[in-house]
Amino acid sequence: MKWSSAAIVAVCSMVGVASADDAIPKSLTGARGDPARGRAIVVNRQVGLCLLCHSGPFPEERFQGNLAPDLAGAGKRASEGQLRLRIVDSSRLNPATIMPAYHRTEGLARVAPAFRGKSILSAEQIEDVVAFLMTLKD
Ligand code: HEC
Repeated sequence: MKWSSAAIVAVCSMVGVASADDAIPKSLTGARGDPARGRAIVVNRQVGLCLLCHSGPFPEERFQGNLAPDLAGAGKRASEGQLRLRIVDSSRLNPATIMPAYHRTEGLARVAPAFRGKSILSAEQIEDVVAFLMTLKD
C-alpha cells in the first residue's frame, strides 16, 4: 500500500511528530542559553517558580511540587524547540494548562498592573532555561 501525503500528515499529527505548531525551533535571542543560569532560574522561588508545580533532580531543594510532570528526563522526552514552546506559552498546546506563559504579554487576563506588558522571563532567561532542560537526559 502507498500512503498518501495527507494520510502521513494525519498520522504524524496524531502521534505528535513534526507539527509546526508544536515547537519554536529557533532561539529567541539567536544565541545558546547558559544551562547553569537556567538551573538557577528553575529553582528560584521568586523568578521561575517552576518547583511550585514541578519536581526534578534538585536534591538541595526540600519542597517541590506535585502538580506537574517531574522535570527529570525533560531533555530526552522533548526536543529543544518543543521545550522552548512549552516555556514561552504552554497554553498553545493545552489551552486549559495551569502552567504560566513565561514569555507572552498578549491576551492575558488578570495581570497585575506592575506586570502589564512584561513577560515573566526575558528572551535570554527563556534560552537559559531551555539550555538547562536539555541537559536533563535521565
Ligand atoms: C502553576 C504550575 C506550573 C508552573 C509554575 C510551571 N509548570 Fe511546567 N507544567 C505544568 C503542568 C500542569 C504541565 C503538564 C502539561 C500541561 O498541563 O500543560 C507542565 C509541563 C511542563 C513541561 C513538559 C513536561 C514533560 O516532560 O512532558 C516542561 C518541560 C515544563 N512544564 C517546564 C516548566 C518550567 C521550566 C517551569 C518554570 C520556568 C514551569 N514548568 C513552571 C505546570 C506548571
